[in-house]
Amino acid sequence: MKEKLEQIKAEAIAALNSVDLPADLENVRVRFLGKKGEMTAILKQMGSLSPQERPVIGQLANQIRSEIEKQISDTAARLEEKHLEERMKKEKLDVTIPGTPVAFGHKHPMSILLDEAKDFFIGMGFTIAEGPEVELSVYDFDKLNIPEGHTVREWQDTFYITEDEKIHLRCQTSPVQVRVMEKQKPPIRIISPGRVYRKDEVDATHSPMFHQIEGLVVDKGITMGDLKGTINALIRYIYGENSVTRFRPHHFPFTEPSCEVDVQCHVCGGKGCRVCKGEGWIEVLGAGMVHPRVLAGCGIDPNEYSGFAFGIGAERLTMRRFGITDMRLIFENDMRFLQQF
Ligand code: DAH
Repeated sequence: MKEKLEQIKAEAIAALNSVDLPADLENVRVRFLGKKGEMTAILKQMGSLSPQERPVIGQLANQIRSEIEKQISDTAARLEEKHLEERMKKEKLDVTIPGTPVAFGHKHPMSILLDEAKDFFIGMGFTIAEGPEVELSVYDFDKLNIPEGHTVREWQDTFYITEDEKIHLRCQTSPVQVRVMEKQKPPIRIISPGRVYRKDEVDATHSPMFHQIEGLVVDKGITMGDLKGTINALIRYIYGENSVTRFRPHHFPFTEPSCEVDVQCHVCGGKGCRVCKGEGWIEVLGAGMVHPRVLAGCGIDPNEYSGFAFGIGAERLTMRRFGITDMRLIFENDMRFLQQF
């Protein structure tokens, strides 16, 4: 029996040495150590041994069994390593192969201009405020001192959301002024860029959706001089040191006095041409000193504080900045146009 056990051991080792696949390894295990395997068969014959022989053979059988088990796990480790090596060879990466080129996009001309304007104002200590595009008429009209019956309130001009005219798509960014003043006490220095909506037909200079940049400064002793200084600095920042501005008296219900600001035409230098429609100047924003009634309506004492406000037409500013002559190009997203910036 002893010889038989030694023989099993030798055969098992030989079989394991020639194993190449995990499935073969399992077969070898079953053949030698399985329930119906060779070791089990031998151990079943233990009963026929003499009481002296039994513990000796038993001990030897255990020893051989554990030796075969060890060889099996060594073989498993060898197979695993071989498998890994083969995979590494097969899946070798060539890191020198050129990659697939990624097409880089870039900013839309409107975003370039809006970012420049934001940089300018943030540098002057302004923060950026936001307001809803679906606005309450109370904020877009009443609290801005725009009376009942004013033309901007008409259905031909404004996209009303409700029949009672209490909610509409804001037609200007000015309601953000009110929202800020109701929450924040002076000193206030904010800008609010965003979309506005008016019932205009699409043409080279009109769109039912466009962008404005609202600005508001409220503090003690703010004057028209502060307004002019700020606007002139902005225009020079965006159009260059030599740009020329003109402040023209105007009327807005929420400012007193009010003005409009023109920039001298960059094409003709003020003589009048096709781009400025013969005017020599291009209007870019409305502005003025915040009306005392608007301040008071927001809980700010107009005897203690004063302020200036402005609303910039962002498309106009962009068109002049990049020499774009048709506003439709800004919204059409034609790659042949956008790639030029
Ligand atoms: N909201 C005005 C418009 O859409 C522009 C404007 C004018 C804004 C004067 C202001 C301002 O803040 O003070 O035409």
